[in-house]
Amino acid sequence: MFDALPADWQIVNMAESHLAQVRQVEIASYPFPWSEGIFKDCISGGYLCKVVLNAEGEVVAYAIVSVAVGECHILNICTSQQLRGQGIARWLLRYMLDEAITFDAKDAFLEVRPSNPAAFRLYESFGFAEVGRRRNYYPDKEGREDAIVMALSLVE
Ligand SMILES: CC(C)(COP(=O)(O)OP(=O)(O)OC[C@H]1O[C@@H](n2cnc3c(N)ncnc32)[C@H](O)[C@@H]1OP(=O)(O)O)[C@@H](O)C(=O)NCCC(=O)NCCS
Repeated sequence: MFDALPADWQIVNMAESHLAQVRQVEIASYPFPWSEGIFKDCISGGYLCKVVLNAEGEVVAYAIVSVAVGECHILNICTSQQLRGQGIARWLLRYMLDEAITFDAKDAFLEVRPSNPAAFRLYESFGFAEVGRRRNYYPDKEGREDAIVMALSLVE
């Protein structure tokens, strides 16, 4: 577990030059991965788009958050499969929420699949609580899957 990134790692704005590696991690991580076009739209749309790079400059994790009118929405957070369980997503989520706070976000929202306990536990451990369900929100191998909507207040 780490409280800070290793000295030779860095967190930088996601650029199109990262997308080949980001997509590799994305495809290995999600049954319905985002296309390159979605990532490009997030970058050009001014979302907070960050990648964590290791000493070799390889993408080990990334996150995308939209911030508008006092709210932020966690749209994607992902750690490379080989590096999971080491606290990277915890560090990155804290970083993204702190960034969103600097842009005046007062509340954070996200959707998560009920079939994704790792992500659900991560969010729960930050104090996110379920505030609703979106029926048939996600595509699923058998049809559609609901989304759990979770929220967290970012102010005392
Ligand atoms: C969810 C995900 C981002 C977690 O990344 P990670 O770097 O392995 O997570 P961390 O090591 O920082 O773990 C933080 C917390 O998440 C939870 N968690 C992580 N992996 C877990 C698992 N396999 N089972 C249960 N809880 C888990 C735990 O609460 C953990 O805290 P703890 O270690 O103190 O118990 C990662 O599994 C992933 O990239 N999954 C695929 C993409 C995805 O589903 N993203 C979320 C979309 S909503």
